[in-house]
Amino acid sequence: MEKLLVHGGSRLKGTVTISGSKNSSLPILAATLLTREQCVIRRVPDLSDTNYMVQILGTLGAEVERASGRVIVAAEKVAPEAPYDLVRKMRASVCVLGPMVGRLGEALVSLPGGCVIGDRPIDLHLRGLEALGAEVEVKGGDISVRAPDGLRGAEINMRGKFGSTVLGTGNVMMAAALADGQTVIEGAAAEPEVADLAQFLNAMGARVEGAGTRTIVIEGVDSLGGAEHEVIPDRIEAGTFLVAGALAGDDLLLENVCADHMGALIDVLRESGHPIEGRGPQALHVRAATSPRGNEFATEPYPGFATDMQAQMCALYATTPGISVVTETVFPQRFMHVPELNRMGANIRMEDATAIIKGVDSLSGAPVMASDLRASAALVLAGLAAEGTTEVNRLYHIDRGYENIDDKLRRVGAKVERAKEG
Ligand code: UD1
Repeated sequence: MEKLLVHGGSRLKGTVTISGSKNSSLPILAATLLTREQCVIRRVPDLSDTNYMVQILGTLGAEVERASGRVIVAAEKVAPEAPYDLVRKMRASVCVLGPMVGRLGEALVSLPGGCVIGDRPIDLHLRGLEALGAEVEVKGGDISVRAPDGLRGAEINMRGKFGSTVLGTGNVMMAAALADGQTVIEGAAAEPEVADLAQFLNAMGARVEGAGTRTIVIEGVDSLGGAEHEVIPDRIEAGTFLVAGALAGDDLLLENVCADHMGALIDVLRESGHPIEGRGPQALHVRAATSPRGNEFATEPYPGFATDMQAQMCALYATTPGISVVTETVFPQRFMHVPELNRMGANIRMEDATAIIKGVDSLSGAPVMASDLRASAALVLAGLAAEGTTEVNRLYHIDRGYENIDDKLRRVGAKVERAKEG
């Protein structure tokens, strides 16, 4: 296993090119299973999660080629079973379920593994597929979905206790693309990644309208064809570098970003005093505030503040003067970074799903344990601002979602090095 040594205190200056979105790439790669024709997906980030998805497509019978961000998939035949040893490695592998049932009328997929960020059920995915007429059985760690007479369009409410579901909306949208008749998804997730998936489906010949809003209408078609698509910029990677800029940026430029997808984050950072400016349609410039202020926000489904940016903000507020209050409403248990930040000298107290952060003058480097993808990013950010060296163990978590994070940080002046653990 590898770890990242982060030597704190450097100022960041230069340009970072943001990769294509991981969370868009995963369902879009899964959607290639909906056609026997060739699909070309561009700007797919080279990450362990996208590698797992490519492997899953391969074991399901697709021919997959991958070179410098381009993935070419031809799924002439698709097997009805997704293997446990791959599926368990990544929660997002559940998004092969919708395309498999849509195309084959059946699917057997193991219950997925993934990030340890609390209980992550898939009841809404299954409720959606059932509404389309599928029979769902969960047995022995597997989900079996069968629709021997095909799927039928239906009106479905996808809203759950914690709001909408991103991958669940994608799964039902993909299955409904080939269902008989019209499907209306109410309470749909409005995340940009859902809209990106719909754009790819429409390029394949699907008839999806309203993706990116709470109501999506899908007119089922008989078959889908091959298509080319470029995935949107990764708004969470971009957001993580924005926070790096707010923590330690002298003059940091982020390229290949879509600022419209990051409105809530940019607002909160600006309210905290950090100057962020657009530079043309696809670039953002950020500097650390001279007198940063604490702030208060709650995570929410899009267009609210992204839960995937909550941990990084806790790292920022750990050394921001004043009291900051961060509430998690999407994954209430997603605070594994808090004890680690406190080990570095932060003063964060939890009250249920709210972190109350009293900004301290400085953090001190320490060995810390990455527990999940975004928590690991938070620890790296904290290390940039800390005195001394922070040793972020279990780096594989960060490699799931950040393409070449150490190279990208080094190029803008951070002192980070990858090393073997223990
Ligand atoms: C996606 C993102 C993840 C992000 C999350 C929320 C990918 C690959 N991952 O995950 O990075 O943190 O959206 O923006 O795109 N829920 C249920 N039942 C379900 C499904 C979800 O109760 O069937 C709950 C979850 O436990 C959570 C909330 O709904 O509390 C939102 O989860 P969801 O949007 O489904 O997350 P993912 O799509 O898995």
